[in-house]
Amino acid sequence: MASNKEHLILSNGVLMPKIGLGTWQATDPIEIKDALEEALKVGYRHLDTAFVYQNEVMIGKVLERWFLKGAIKREDLFVTTKLPMQGVHPARVEQFLDKSLKNLHLDYVDLYLVHFPVCVKYTENGTYPFNEQGELETETTDLVAVWKKMEELLDTGKVRSIGVSNFNISQLERLIKNCKIKPANLQIENHVYLQSNDLIDFCHKNGISVVAYSPLGSPSYNKVCEKFGIQKNDDLPNVLGDETVISLSKKHNKSPAQILLRFLIERHLAVIPKSTNPLRIKENFDIFDFKLDDEDMAKLRSLDKGEKARVCNAQMLKGISQHPEYPFPRI
Ligand code: A2P
Repeated sequence: MASNKEHLILSNGVLMPKIGLGTWQATDPIEIKDALEEALKVGYRHLDTAFVYQNEVMIGKVLERWFLKGAIKREDLFVTTKLPMQGVHPARVEQFLDKSLKNLHLDYVDLYLVHFPVCVKYTENGTYPFNEQGELETETTDLVAVWKKMEELLDTGKVRSIGVSNFNISQLERLIKNCKIKPANLQIENHVYLQSNDLIDFCHKNGISVVAYSPLGSPSYNKVCEKFGIQKNDDLPNVLGDETVISLSKKHNKSPAQILLRFLIERHLAVIPKSTNPLRIKENFDIFDFKLDDEDMAKLRSLDKGEKARVCNAQMLKGISQHPEYPFPRI
């Protein structure tokens, strides 16, 4: 993957900062406002959001203030947002992009991603529809037809780059075989226990940059389970507490989180750790003044546990894994 010290260079030449602020689970307006203010002060210039995170409006307000006071220029920022599952239908792609742009008060986003390769039935108020058995109401969808609509967005000037999230190799292969423009980016859950080497190698061979979400293993995932009233995951990957990670953190005089993020950077990924805590926002940004050597990398590579370490499988949405395009192994 082409890169310089602090950016990945996407296949269309656009520069993406390797560290971005993740905002999944940051829905409280004050919390997201304070976090974003802090992140911009610290120097973050890459922000990751999604229609479904319900925080685009507040992010837009903060950005507008920074633009108005002249503290930042639009072209210095890299903003990603995502097409929700209700929009994974050729007739609805641009409509959902427009909603996100309106929420964000932006004329364009730097990267627009198909959030998840499953289509959910449209509802006027944007909430997910469930049937009487409590199962998500989905529709079959044609991902190639959706991708063609994503390609058309490039001509509107409302997106600089397009990509996908949570797609597997066979779905990517199908897009690549049938597209005019390859995805510039894949966003996936990735951390030291879930390294997905085949998928990342496939992307890099095809010039697709990769962004790791939940790079710290999603330690607050059970809060989401509480919100959805579903069983907690008692087996969350405790990557921050891993002995090898802790010993490397002592060796380099860096925190476990910084070791985990640097490991992904050394693998030529960009990372979007979520934090709303000022000290951790700063800490997560401070990962460019040290390197992991070959021995450190080998130790960390050996921690891979594969699929069983996946946290974000969307299965809190009952029935989603029955959809023909569900991208992960069914459990
Ligand atoms: P907080 O927002 O209170 O900082 P992930 O991006 O893997 O999903 O991880 C996000 C979670 O990890 C959030 O709960 C966040 O809590 C916490 N977190 C973020 N940065 C750090 C850090 N440097 N050290 C420990 N926990 C962190």
